[in-house]
Amino acid sequence: MSLSFQHLTSTKQLSRADTDALLETAEKMEKVENSGGDESLKGKVLACLFYEPSTRTRLSFETAMHRLGGSVITADGIQFSSLYKGETIEDTITVINQYADIIAMRHPDAGSADKAASVSEVPFINAGDGPGQHPTQALLDLYTIQKERGTIDGISITMVGDLRYGRTVHSLCYLLGLYNNVKFTFVAPAELTMPEKVTSYLQEKGLEFTETDELEDGLDSDVIYITRVQKERFADQSEYERLKLKYVLTADHLKGKKGTVMHPLPRVGEIDTLVDALPTAAYFRQAKNGVYLRMALLSMLLNNS
Ligand code: NCD
Repeated sequence: MSLSFQHLTSTKQLSRADTDALLETAEKMEKVENSGGDESLKGKVLACLFYEPSTRTRLSFETAMHRLGGSVITADGIQFSSLYKGETIEDTITVINQYADIIAMRHPDAGSADKAASVSEVPFINAGDGPGQHPTQALLDLYTIQKERGTIDGISITMVGDLRYGRTVHSLCYLLGLYNNVKFTFVAPAELTMPEKVTSYLQEKGLEFTETDELEDGLDSDVIYITRVQKERFADQSEYERLKLKYVLTADHLKGKKGTVMHPLPRVGEIDTLVDALPTAAYFRQAKNGVYLRMALLSMLLNNS
């Protein structure tokens, strides 16, 4: 199985054949991981470049590489290091190409991933570019939906919270556009609604969506995907303070509901901790799925190249 791309910057570039192949490989990787890993990427080096804070994305990329016998070099907090002293992204990536076989980068600017990919000769993966895209999160979300619900076609999904700045929901909408009859409910305050570029894409694909600012309108879906209000994207912090806990999902909301609860994490109060004990609370399983999915992606990109 091979992928149609060398660099992954946006979920818009993926085909259904790509997502099928990645999900199938992630399932195999789950078995590899459960049996203690293998050495299939021995001798390969992953460079993790993080210009923005990250815990789970960086650590799960690193875990994935280690589980396959590869090694990792990491630069985080790069804004404080010599790599960043006015150097362009293009130059940084060209330098890292001299060291590594594959690169994962997180950067605060939307569009930075495309710049990096345009000069990279080794596979490049966008690990989040500001409010733009976060394709590997969306892929692991897709894998989680498949595992938790048994299907992706025909599901209903509610997305709640910061739909404006949340890159994970943008990337996930584009991916779900590859499937049939997915129905969306978007729950957000007027200030944080889903960008028009995403809703017009869904319209082009003929997919149904409704928009509301009431959490209660979205609780009957097969999947409830809740997100953190993205503090770092607000110019006005008082606006953030006003909106940050507009929606808090509690166990009471979920009484009698069957929907799978997902969150890309970190949560900062949007899901009451009493929800954690419910069998439908899938967010920690979702985080684990990130390792399998990233193992699949690293393995397929390195074997393609
Ligand atoms: C998300 C991100 O970085 O966009 N986190 C993650 O990758 N797990 C979501 C967030 O930070 O709110």
